[in-house]
Amino acid sequence: MRAMSSPMPAAESVLLHDPRLRGHKVARVVFDEQRLAQRVNALGAEITAAYPEGDLVVLGLLKGSFIFLSDLVRQILRPLQIDFLVAASYGDATVSSGQVKLLYDPATSFKGKHVLVVEDVIDSGRTLAALMDRLTEREPRSLAICALLHKRISTHFNHAATFVGFDAPNEFLVGYGLDHAENFRHLPYIASLA
Ligand code: IMP
Ligand code: MG
Repeated sequence: MRAMSSPMPAAESVLLHDPRLRGHKVARVVFDEQRLAQRVNALGAEITAAYPEGDLVVLGLLKGSFIFLSDLVRQILRPLQIDFLVAASYGDATVSSGQVKLLYDPATSFKGKHVLVVEDVIDSGRTLAALMDRLTEREPRSLAICALLHKRISTHFNHAATFVGFDAPNEFLVGYGLDHAENFRHLPYIASLA
C-alpha cells in the first residue's frame, strides 16, 4: 500500500536504473532533464533579446560547457558564430589572482563583436576572472558571461554573470557536461556526488 501512496520519486529511480552510472555512486538528481531544457530555452530567449544587432560570437569554455552550449545556441534566434576556448588554471588554490593559460585559443578576431562566454559552473570564479581580463584586451564590442550554474561562493570574481541558468548548491555536481575525473559528462541531468 505504501508503495502505491508514495511512489519512488522519479529522480531517485533514474539514479537506480541509469546504465550510465554502473559502478558509480551518485547521491541525487539536482536538475532533471525537463528543468534544464526549460531553463535553457528561457536563457536562449533572454540572450536573443539582449543582442538586437551586431555580430555575436558565442565562446564556449571546454570541456564543461559543451552540452549546455549546444542546447543553448539552438535557442538563440539570431545569427551567431561559435568558437571554443580551452583554458588551464595555474597556481595554488589559495592565491586569489589565478593565472590562466590558453591551450586552445581561437584565431577569430573579437574586435567590434559581441562576445558571450559560456561556462558550465562558476565556483571560485578564478578561471573566468583571469580569462575575462585576457579577452578584454581583444577589444570586443561587449563581453558578457552566460553560466549554467552559479554557486554564489566566489569571493574574488568581479565580473557579474549576465545570464545565469540556476543558483546551485555548494556541492560537487556532475552531468550535462560537468565531470568528476572526466566521468559523468554524458548524463542528461545534473546530479550531486555529495
Ligand atoms: P572556478 O574557477 O573555481 O570557478 O571553477 C572553474 C571550473 O571548475 C568549472 O568550469 C568546472 O570545470 C570546475 N568545477 C567547479 N565546480 C564544479 C562542480 O561542482 N562539478 C564539476 N566541475 C566543477
Ligand atoms: Mg571540469
